[in-house]
Amino acid sequence: MRQTQNERLTRTDPGTPMGDLFRRYWLPALTLAELPDADPVRVPLLGEKLIAIRDSSGRAAILQEACPHRQASLYFGLCADGGIRCPYHGWKFDTDGNCLDIPGEPDGSTFHEQIRITAYPTVQRGGVIWVYMGPPDQQPEPPAFEWATLPVENLFVTRRIQDCNYLQTMEGGLDSSHLSWLHGGTILTDTVLGIGGPGTDSRILDIIATDRKPVYETLNTAGGLLLGARRNADETNYYWRITQFIAPCFNIIAPTGDLTLNAQAWVPLDDQRCWSWAVNYYVDKPLSAAERDAMRKGGGLHVEFVPGTHQGVANHDNDYLLD
Ligand code: FES
Ligand SMILES: [Fe+2]
Repeated sequence: MRQTQNERLTRTDPGTPMGDLFRRYWLPALTLAELPDADPVRVPLLGEKLIAIRDSSGRAAILQEACPHRQASLYFGLCADGGIRCPYHGWKFDTDGNCLDIPGEPDGSTFHEQIRITAYPTVQRGGVIWVYMGPPDQQPEPPAFEWATLPVENLFVTRRIQDCNYLQTMEGGLDSSHLSWLHGGTILTDTVLGIGGPGTDSRILDIIATDRKPVYETLNTAGGLLLGARRNADETNYYWRITQFIAPCFNIIAPTGDLTLNAQAWVPLDDQRCWSWAVNYYVDKPLSAAERDAMRKGGGLHVEFVPGTHQGVANHDNDYLLD
């Protein structure tokens, strides 16, 4: 790929070609669990500094982080009475971005009516607050991924920061061949969610470990791109792993046996980092307490988090805990 092509695909600030494309989709912004109350949460997306809040009626909103007055961060603002108040001079905004009050103005002033901040529409689905950052007249139907239509008991969903652009990590998510190498160890040891888990076909382990030259085939469908990785199973059979890609940044990974279905999304945070979303789910039953516990500890598609952060315990700064 040429540098110009790479830049075209990975730059997502407002006004860039890919930035415009991403802004035509509902994107996962944060989990419901991250916004239990009125305390603002930072959700930088597509190069824009944003915060999520809940107003006193429980409605979630995603707003620009910088106060338009002197650029103080509304992350430190106080949510009360239908909006958020800037900590610096007290300007107050509602969840639609309207300025409700400028305390320093003379009595009777209507200056606040001229002030607005960016406020993006949200929907809550599948344990996630989704945001639409595009033109209002182009807003699509709410996200309908199967996992996004399920009760929250059926799924476990997390987001983490990855220190690379979305395209780099998305490429890994769509690439079945590295399974034979990078994830060979975890496939063996992840007994709750891995291929070595209960109810799974242990031959798959051998096939993935043995045939390290998968042959790819792709198929364009109305619902996205199917990516098939074909490995030799035995003298007469193939083993196919089918991954679905759904534009602009979603996938569904083949489940193994009766284990959970798996989905991922890679949403640009800015041009150098992305939010890596991981979902493990059952369509027809809740996850067990043991499965949830294992995922909290980094099982399945998840990582164990440094408490209070979106950073995995094993991360770039500590060489992923390799000694
Ligand atoms: S900077 Fe927000 S009110 Fe002044
Ligand atoms: Fe991977």
